[in-house]
Amino acid sequence: MSRGLRIDGHRLNAAIDALAEIGPIPGGGNCRLALTDEDRLGRDHVVARMRALGLRVIIDRIGNVFGIRDGREHGPAVMTGSHIDTVRTGGRFDGNLGVLAGLEVIETLNAAGAATRHPLAVAVFTDEEGARFAPDMLGSLVHVGGLSLEQALDTRAIDGARLGDELARIGYAGDAEPGTVAARAFIELHVEQGPVLEREGVTIGAVHDLQGISWQAVRIAGQSNHAGTTPMHLRHDAGYCAARIACRVRELTAELGSGQVGTVGRLRLRPDLINVIAAEAELTVDLRHTRENTLREAERRLASFLDSLAASEGVHIETESLARFEPVRFDDALAGLVADTAVRLGLSVRRMTSGAGHDAQMMARVCPSAMIFVPSRDGLSHNPAEYTAPHEIEAGANVLLQCLLALADPA
Ligand code: GLV
Ligand code: MN
Ligand code: MN
Repeated sequence: MSRGLRIDGHRLNAAIDALAEIGPIPGGGNCRLALTDEDRLGRDHVVARMRALGLRVIIDRIGNVFGIRDGREHGPAVMTGSHIDTVRTGGRFDGNLGVLAGLEVIETLNAAGAATRHPLAVAVFTDEEGARFAPDMLGSLVHVGGLSLEQALDTRAIDGARLGDELARIGYAGDAEPGTVAARAFIELHVEQGPVLEREGVTIGAVHDLQGISWQAVRIAGQSNHAGTTPMHLRHDAGYCAARIACRVRELTAELGSGQVGTVGRLRLRPDLINVIAAEAELTVDLRHTRENTLREAERRLASFLDSLAASEGVHIETESLARFEPVRFDDALAGLVADTAVRLGLSVRRMTSGAGHDAQMMARVCPSAMIFVPSRDGLSHNPAEYTAPHEIEAGANVLLQCLLALADPA
C-alpha cells in the first residue's frame, strides 16, 4: 500500500502560503532573518503543526527543532527537513519547502495509518542562511559537531546581537544537547535556486554533490579627507579599494572558468557621505567552486590582490573568514534512490550539483545524505519572486515521501 501513497499537493501548497504570511515582504517573499521576532513566529507556527500531527518535539541548545514520529523499532530516525529562516529578501520556498514537505509526508502517513519500522524525524535547523549570523548552516553544523555550542552561541550578528542572547529572547534555547537526535539517513527537498532544471525541462534533480563555500569579510582602513581639495595621488580611499576588490572578484571568476563563482554581496562605507573620502570600508566576498583546488586558487588570487592593493593605495586591509566548507559528495546510493524513485513515479530526473549551501551537506558528515531539487522559475532565489509551480512542489514531495518510506520501512 505504501508504494501507492501520495501526498496532498493542495495541502502542501497551502501550507507554504500560510508560512509565507509570517514576515511577508513586497513581491510575495519573506524576511525572517535568523532569531528575529519573525523567525520566532515562523517557528511557533511550525512547532504547533508538529504537535497537531502528534510528533514528539525536541529542541536542542542551538535551537534546532526536531519533530519525531516513532517507528515500530527504536533507534536513529530517517530524517528530513531544512530551515525556515530567510535572507532579508527571501522567497517563500527556500528552506520552507523542505520543512513543510516533511510535515506533509507525516500527515499523509498519519491519514493512511501507515506505521514505519524506523522513526521519522522532521528537522528545522537554526540559521541556515548565515545572512544575519555567519557561518551559514550554523545549526546543522553544531548538530553534527562541526562547531562547538559555546562558539556558536557567542557568534555576533551583522547588527551586533549575540546569537545565544537572541535564541533565549525568542524562546528557542532548548535543553537537548546538540546531536541528541540521531539520523540513520537524511534527505532534504529544496528548490534548485538555479536555472538548470527549468532550462532542460526536467522536474526532479537528484543532487549528488555540492560546491565548496568560502566566505570572507574584508575590512579596509584608509583616511577620510575632503572630496574637493585632496589631490588624487594623496588619497587613501577605502571606497575606491572596495570597488577595486569587487572588480577583481569578477575578473578572477573569468580567469578560473565558468565553474568559479564570486560575489560581493555586502558593502558598507564610513562615514558614507558624498563629500568625504571613505575612511573605512567593509565588504563580504563569497567564492564557490565544486573543486577544492580551484577554490583555494581563487582565495590565493584574491589574497595576493589585497596585498598589492594595500601597498599601492596606502591603506590597511584585514580579512576574516566567516565560513569555509569544502565541496561535499553526497551518498551515491541515496542519490540513486532519489533518481530511481523519480523514474518510478514517471517524473523526469537528472543528477546534479547544488550551487547553494544546505543543511544536508552538514548531515552528510554523520549519515548517508542526499537532496531532491525541484525547478526554480527563471533560476531566481534569494529574491521575493522565487517561484516553483504547485505541480512541481507536489512532485518533489511525492519523491520525498517514497524515498523516506523506502528508508524507514524497507520491504
Ligand atoms: C546558503 O543557503 C547559501 O547557499 O548561501
Ligand atoms: Mn535553503
Ligand atoms: Mn537560502
